[in-house]
Amino acid sequence: MPIRALSLPKVIGHRGAAEAAPENTLAGFREAKRQGATWVEFDAKLSADNRAFLLHDDNIDRTSNAAGPARALSYDEIRLLDAGSWKNARFAGEKMPLLAEALSLFAQEDIQFNLELKPCPGRARETAKLILEELAHLWPAGKPKPLISSFVLECLEIARDTAPELPRGLLLEDHAANWLDLAQNLKADTVNIWDQTATAEWVAEIKAEGYGLLVYTVNDAARAKQLIGWGVDGVFTDAPARILAAVGQ
Ligand code: G3P
Ligand code: MG
Repeated sequence: MPIRALSLPKVIGHRGAAEAAPENTLAGFREAKRQGATWVEFDAKLSADNRAFLLHDDNIDRTSNAAGPARALSYDEIRLLDAGSWKNARFAGEKMPLLAEALSLFAQEDIQFNLELKPCPGRARETAKLILEELAHLWPAGKPKPLISSFVLECLEIARDTAPELPRGLLLEDHAANWLDLAQNLKADTVNIWDQTATAEWVAEIKAEGYGLLVYTVNDAARAKQLIGWGVDGVFTDAPARILAAVGQ
């Protein structure tokens, strides 16, 4: 049974508002807020020179105007890239922001967030360590604490051991038979599961153990309603306004 009772939103803007705006950008977070989301989720990793910035994939190909593995680039090199045009010409010039820039926007705009630790291959340890240190320095103590999540168990172990005060979310891709052992070992507060694996039975099982339960990525209003009806606390969605209209705040 988790020790913290969290206040979770029904709707979390996935990578910002990824349907309407380029994912993991400041423009995306502003769009999520404009659509009514009070929380956003984003993916954070380290550049080659250990600066924390926002990007989902291991490579920059899909979401920028260049190609190659992110782990080979310094942040100064990443900063030169256009992370907006691939989505729409009106987002030309949007950057892959530093974590510090995203935090500053969230503090200013009163946006709550789920930081997903998404390390480049082989960089789990330093990614978790440096990002959690940066968060401790930069996120104002008086603001609501972020939820820290990851698919990478090593990242969550480091979060548990070095930043125990921050709520933790265990991200799962499969319906793992040992999910409860994992959640207990990590002292997780939430279990964040893939929509394709979510059944009424598993939802009931996770809720009966007292965990917060979030489901990714839900862009269909009827499905969001069904999940919330089953007892899911909230969903990650690329389309916050559409899902908010279906399930409310
Ligand atoms: O944290 C929820 C969701 O973002 C996990 O999957 O691949 O979109 O980071 P992904
Ligand atoms: Mg993510």
